[in-house]
Amino acid sequence: MKILVGNWKSNGNMADKNKMIRALERTNTDIKIILSLPYTLLSGNNNKKIAICAQDISEHPNGPFTGDISGQMIKDTGAKYVLIGHSERRTNHQETDKIAKNKAIMAIKNGLIPIICIGETLSEYKSKKTKTIIKKMLLDCTPDSGKFIVAYEPRWAIGTGITATKTDVQTIHQMIFDILKTKGQEKTPILFGGSITAKNVCEFINIPHVDGFIVGGASLKPATFLPIIDQMNKKTSKPKTKVTNHGKQNRKCKKRS
Ligand code: PGA
Repeated sequence: MKILVGNWKSNGNMADKNKMIRALERTNTDIKIILSLPYTLLSGNNNKKIAICAQDISEHPNGPFTGDISGQMIKDTGAKYVLIGHSERRTNHQETDKIAKNKAIMAIKNGLIPIICIGETLSEYKSKKTKTIIKKMLLDCTPDSGKFIVAYEPRWAIGTGITATKTDVQTIHQMIFDILKTKGQEKTPILFGGSITAKNVCEFINIPHVDGFIVGGASLKPATFLPIIDQMNKKTSKPKTKVTNHGKQNRKCKKRS
């Protein structure tokens, strides 16, 4: 089953969330849909088809950590997943691989599934260090046991409108899979992200070991998020029916110019 994570970052209120849930309820798809929401919107999801994800977790258990949201608190909201080490956490909050690993372990301890984000910077990409960096990040951030998801997101592709090439994605996802396999973790889903939209998602859907996507900007509104589901439906397993209500988004995957 393919996975699609909509990462709302620091956006959205309760009305936006309800609107999105109602739109998603009208879709008929085999894709596992996960909404990664701000803490304020985690509670109150009664829809069993749509899973909720937090965007961060405290490294610490409950206790004297003012402002921190613990794993137990996230679990209590009904959320099932938590993003770990997203590029924006690394850039804006100086999160290291060590912190990411601690947080992933904390998530697993509390019955949550961590989605562990790894990705190279633009200068690392330009100096052809991507494989070395990703291998190190993967080994340093992922726990030795427990269920988790890995998300490969080149940091220079997040929110920029620039996506990685198909060849790069294929190479890196294969490498991630091979490394996980040596650790007996080959069942771990591997997601891809960075400026994914309905126009470019087809390029990546059928790449081996691309088990789904993390989508930021294009996940904020049903008019741009649902067409991604539609494209994924068309390119993967046979959906029972097509998604409806797509808004005005151009639904054709375009060839790169
Ligand atoms: P983007 O964000 O799709 O806006 O590039 C991706 C992400 O937040 O992971």
